[in-house]
Amino acid sequence: MTTIGLIGAGHIGGQVARLAIKNGYDVVVSNSRGPATLSGLVEELGPRARAATAQEAARAGDIVVVTIPLKNIGSVPVEPLAGKVVIDTNNYYPERDGRIPELDAESTTTAELLQKHLPSSKVVKAFNHIYAAQLTTDGSAPGTPSRRALAIAGDDAAAKQVATELLDGFGFDAVDAGPLAEGWRYQPDTPAYNVRQDAEELRAALAQAKRRTEAG
Ligand SMILES: NC(=O)c1ccc[n+]([C@@H]2O[C@H](COP(=O)([O-])OP(=O)(O)OC[C@H]3O[C@@H](n4cnc5c(N)ncnc54)[C@H](OP(=O)(O)O)[C@@H]3O)[C@@H](O)[C@H]2O)c1
Repeated sequence: MTTIGLIGAGHIGGQVARLAIKNGYDVVVSNSRGPATLSGLVEELGPRARAATAQEAARAGDIVVVTIPLKNIGSVPVEPLAGKVVIDTNNYYPERDGRIPELDAESTTTAELLQKHLPSSKVVKAFNHIYAAQLTTDGSAPGTPSRRALAIAGDDAAAKQVATELLDGFGFDAVDAGPLAEGWRYQPDTPAYNVRQDAEELRAALAQAKRRTEAG
């Protein structure tokens, strides 16, 4: 039995938790204010879900999804995530996160920052370029014509395979955008960002993406 741990249980975390329950996973949700504040979500999710601290969710999860404002990734527990697949949904919004010079200079990417914080984990960037609400409305069965596709990026092939299977179960084709360093190709303000695309369209959008500095 696979447990999905969630660090962050807001718009995206709640939706990923719903999809995980629907797909037969056990779920442990966490946020910054503590498990007692998640009783409504846990009640909705049912008996296979529980709320815990971020530390406990990190420890309990076989796969852990980090889905919090980027400015807070420094608080993500490191040791309990060692060796695990960690899915990163985060985007950089300077108005929310403050200015992060390496991202402004495009010398790194958001998911590389999380990977740097979690050196022994296998970070895969996913679920960051779809509106939260669409996670539970836009999925469809494998093989559905024009099935919606979502991009993944990561430095570990086995972890990307885990993410691909997770996405497939959740109703989406996964398109491999390459290593974490290529994750900028589906960040905000790119052609793939929050647009419904099938796998072929998404591949084209990823190829067309331009760095902010390049785009002017
Ligand atoms: N909303 C979207 O449609 C969407 C789409 C794609 C990607 N994203 C990205 O995904 C991430 C999450 O977005 P969201 O819309 O789900 O955000 P959100 O609704 O604001 O939820 C954020 C969640 O993170 C928790 N959190 C904050 N700091 C934390 C910490 N240090 N440790 C543990 N939990 C913490 C919050 O808990 P408390 O409430 O207790 O503080 C809350 O549960 C962001 O980076 C966002 O840019 C969002």
